[in-house]
Amino acid sequence: MKQINAQVLSNAEIFGYREARYFLLRVNAPEIAAEGKPGQFCMIKCGPDSLLRRPLSIHAASPSGDIDFLYDNNRGRGKNWLSKIAAGSKLDIIGPLGNGFYIDRKMNNILLVAGGIGIAPLLYLAEKVIGLGKNVILLQGARCREGLYPDDLLPSGMENIKVVERPDNNNHLPLGKVTEFLPAHSNSADQIFACGPQAMLEAISNQVDNKAVTKPVQVSLEVRMGCGLGTCYGCSIKTRQGMQRVCKDGPVFNIKDIIWQEVRI
Ligand code: FES
Repeated sequence: MKQINAQVLSNAEIFGYREARYFLLRVNAPEIAAEGKPGQFCMIKCGPDSLLRRPLSIHAASPSGDIDFLYDNNRGRGKNWLSKIAAGSKLDIIGPLGNGFYIDRKMNNILLVAGGIGIAPLLYLAEKVIGLGKNVILLQGARCREGLYPDDLLPSGMENIKVVERPDNNNHLPLGKVTEFLPAHSNSADQIFACGPQAMLEAISNQVDNKAVTKPVQVSLEVRMGCGLGTCYGCSIKTRQGMQRVCKDGPVFNIKDIIWQEVRI
């Protein structure tokens, strides 16, 4: 883990739907990029007078030391401040933090399930497992076409299945929630990784409980955090292993370990 003053290389809105505007922030942070694993996150100081940092998943990291973060500028003042930061500015960043995804090297078929901004930690995972020669399917859902991650920013070498809840005149994408399409695609998967809104994760948990989904599922939780370092216990959740801190014990958990009735993310 390092704390550095990273230079902002770019920061631009790349897609969005109504009030949800998704920004891609790229910083140069070689010390963190070299260590960061898919599923880990960084704490970013959002404003000169801000006491609290905001957690953002590592969305991508390059060998040259650049790190990407994907965020919704409508989620709090910190993110809104971040959306206005310009290239050339400096950002105070701590990372990489938390426990990332566990990739079973023996497994060949990977299914990624993303709900909206939940694609943030999954893109870096996709790049890694494609690099390992795995077969990768991304199943991504959004309210409408404008809320889906842009095709041209996805890594090549994986199947991209898109689902939307609302029809429009310009697309013929399958309609429904991403979880309605999950059981059919889970049959051919060896490992499943998911991130998205709580309702989506709870629905997957129910599918695991009722055996509609029988493959191991890891989920990345995005919760409010105080310190991000495991000291304030502000991010604690109830699990079958007892109380666990999302920032330190997670943010990636086995979906079966989480007691969803007691969790609010
Ligand atoms: S945010 Fe402080 S312990 Fe997790």
